[in-house]
Amino acid sequence: MIVPGYRDHPAEPWDPSAPVDPGEAEDFLRRCYTENPRLGPVEPRLAIVRAQIAATGTYVHTTDEVAHGARMAWRNASRCIGRLYWRSLMVLDRRRARTADEIFSLLVQHLQTAGNGQIRPVISVFAPAQPGQPYARIWNEQLIRYAGYRTEEGRQVGDPRQAGFTSSVRGYGWQGKGDAFDVLPLVIETPGEGVRLYELPERAIREVPLTHPEYGWFAELGLRWHAVPAIANMRLTVGGVHYPMAPFNGWYLGTEIGARNLADSDRYDMLPEMARRLGLDTSRESTLWRDRALVELNRAVLYSFEQAGVKMSDHHTESQRFMAHLRNEEKAGRPVPADWTWIVPPMSGGLTPVFHRYYEELDLRPAFYLDDEAAELARTGVRRCPHH
Ligand code: ARG
Repeated sequence: MIVPGYRDHPAEPWDPSAPVDPGEAEDFLRRCYTENPRLGPVEPRLAIVRAQIAATGTYVHTTDEVAHGARMAWRNASRCIGRLYWRSLMVLDRRRARTADEIFSLLVQHLQTAGNGQIRPVISVFAPAQPGQPYARIWNEQLIRYAGYRTEEGRQVGDPRQAGFTSSVRGYGWQGKGDAFDVLPLVIETPGEGVRLYELPERAIREVPLTHPEYGWFAELGLRWHAVPAIANMRLTVGGVHYPMAPFNGWYLGTEIGARNLADSDRYDMLPEMARRLGLDTSRESTLWRDRALVELNRAVLYSFEQAGVKMSDHHTESQRFMAHLRNEEKAGRPVPADWTWIVPPMSGGLTPVFHRYYEELDLRPAFYLDDEAAELARTGVRRCPHH
């Protein structure tokens, strides 16, 4: 799909040894300065950047460029339904942090900033990768995730998605309580200090115990979830510069927890238990016991977050917001790349307006990418290839 003035980037793996592509730098800077007239004319800035790239293979963004670049990357995130508020992203410029201790304390600050009362979308941008040099990274897929264990009898406890990562951090000496909702430690790797583990302090972890508006027994299930979804292992790329450590968060959409994390059969798999408690007929699929259990689980999630005063949206509201985002962007003359399979909510899809249309799938930059290596580190907690 060709959109005039927008370059599509067919997904190609990142080469950390390659110098910055001057064309991509120029593309980004022109767009950034056009969208932000207060930054002044772009030509003098382009001259400086071209010279920096020629001399060093890379260049240094101004704080304004990093901030707008991060917001553009969110705007371009084709799997995200929550993009209406892309302009409001709070950008914390953390490029000067070097040691794992410094990084960790800034991550704690990130979680506190994001999750104090109302949830605010926040990104912390740490140092960019220098071409050919080793760089710092976070191994965890999110800043807050629950450990997963397999008991000796073969029973799953906690989040099975984190089972590999959990057994790896246990190998590094971490001891989990063995409960269903043990927050994993952060694994921070820096070129100078190697791999270090950090336990998040309580003040960084806001959680919501789940109850149901009508069923008292629901509380006995002992379910809970954390308030802030903070993706930790995606690389932010802006104008040809790569930021491998740029954790970001929004607020939750209820279905992420109620229709996926707690419902998927390879996650917490709560639907059979819900059906038992609800007294549903599970002898045949056609009773729709799964669907009925799913609705009640999702009501509990939305109700509990609301009671706790923690911001969360439902899939109907968020779908309407996304439609508003499509209209805004059309007015601004910008394409909205979107991936239907991710935008449509995992329950009641056809009840939401986002279901009833198609989208263009474009790889626009700035962007967030999940590199294969990062995905594998988060899944297994094991580094296969040596650190470059
Ligand atoms: N689906 C992921 C989870 O349940 C979070 C992805 C990001 N979500 C968000 N609302 N920003 O943990």
